[in-house]
Amino acid sequence: MLPTRKDFPEDFVFGAATSSYQIEGHGFGGAGRTHWDDFAATPGNVVGAEHGQIACDHYHRMDEDLDLLAALNVDAYRFSTSWARVMPDGTGAVNQDGLDFYDRLVDGLLERGIKPAATLYHWELPSALADQGGWRNRDIANWMADFTTAIMGRIGDRVWSAAPINEPWCVGWLSHFMGAHAPGLRDIRATARAMHHILLAHGTSIQAMRALGMKNLGAVCNLEWATPANDSEAAKQAAATYDAIYNRFFLSGMFKGKYPDQVLAGLEPHLPTGWQDDFPTIMSPVDWCGLNYYTRTLVDHDNGPWPHYTQSRGDLPKTYLEWEIYPKGLTDFLIRTQQDYTGDLPLYVTENGLALEDPIKNGTIDDQARIDFVSSHLTAVQDAIVAGAPVKGYFQWSLLDNYEWACGYAPRFGLVYVDFETLQRTPKSSYQALANAFAR
Ligand code: FCB
Repeated sequence: MLPTRKDFPEDFVFGAATSSYQIEGHGFGGAGRTHWDDFAATPGNVVGAEHGQIACDHYHRMDEDLDLLAALNVDAYRFSTSWARVMPDGTGAVNQDGLDFYDRLVDGLLERGIKPAATLYHWELPSALADQGGWRNRDIANWMADFTTAIMGRIGDRVWSAAPINEPWCVGWLSHFMGAHAPGLRDIRATARAMHHILLAHGTSIQAMRALGMKNLGAVCNLEWATPANDSEAAKQAAATYDAIYNRFFLSGMFKGKYPDQVLAGLEPHLPTGWQDDFPTIMSPVDWCGLNYYTRTLVDHDNGPWPHYTQSRGDLPKTYLEWEIYPKGLTDFLIRTQQDYTGDLPLYVTENGLALEDPIKNGTIDDQARIDFVSSHLTAVQDAIVAGAPVKGYFQWSLLDNYEWACGYAPRFGLVYVDFETLQRTPKSSYQALANAFAR
């Protein structure tokens, strides 16, 4: 059974999430070129070389999409602000059309009684900054602060919450070590520098927002449960290393002012000189912590170079992207985050969802598997609350089918189906089920 609003504390926030590059249509409104445009234009990186130039055309269909949010009965909407739409060259001149767009978005949410939950950076770095080394360049902490001041100087007085960077692990490790996301590097030194500078930029961005007088500022990390692939000591060690890189590095930096030993074992020689001195900035106080949660992975020892692990998928039921469905990981992460890092700080599940094929038949999309997935994960959140974790909200990824990065448009994560030829929106059966569950 799908839990409903009455099964949660009275002030619990139900929301839906999207991100700028995945829905807006980056070819519109004077947005600058981004490293995702460059990555997608390089053969082999993205399925079908698909890109975000049109995406869901949310840029022109914002009102329709906000009406969909309102009828979904959500309390909050988590969106992101494109750096390249606000500052096409990454620094300097500001694109007024871009600022106006986010201004209309925030006002449109408030008019509908929906809390605007902003993320400043959800991955589309301006190409002009990538040219200067992007996340490898320490200056990005200052560039990020300037971007923060530019966009939040306009909308910061009306957003409900704000977080600087979506999913540091993806921005750092997935994009610079695994090469799976822009800028597509596979380089340990670039990785170490990017991971550290991401945290530094998180801190300067928080400070820039404090200087504007903003409140309710947070951090959003994605976590993936790491299960040893077998009972061997080597597999346990490998899973612990995976866990440290993926799940502990960023939380530890922000909330403890240090990096896990298992990560330093590989990355320390490549960190920028004086990295220890940056923790006061990295630890700039936040008001909440968001967890994005999707799946788990099995980890085994590998004899190759550090980090000495291999990864595989287990036998649990899987989504369209072959991600195992493992709700218990969400419960365990919420409890562990409180115990090991955040204490009494409010926790939010800032993303959770699944990709399905979602064929449209006679104008309807029957996605019972999505309803089941949300049910089991909302139950997992309840379990964490019962165990004492201060979980204050849950955001479904995603409102709309959208550009799923290197996987292109085929994996459908939306509560609302998008026909990418006509751009027509059709709510799925999960949309109706959640609208009923979230009704006040
Ligand atoms: C998260 C991203 C989001 C989307 C989902 C499926 O890692 O934040 O943009 O791609 O995964």
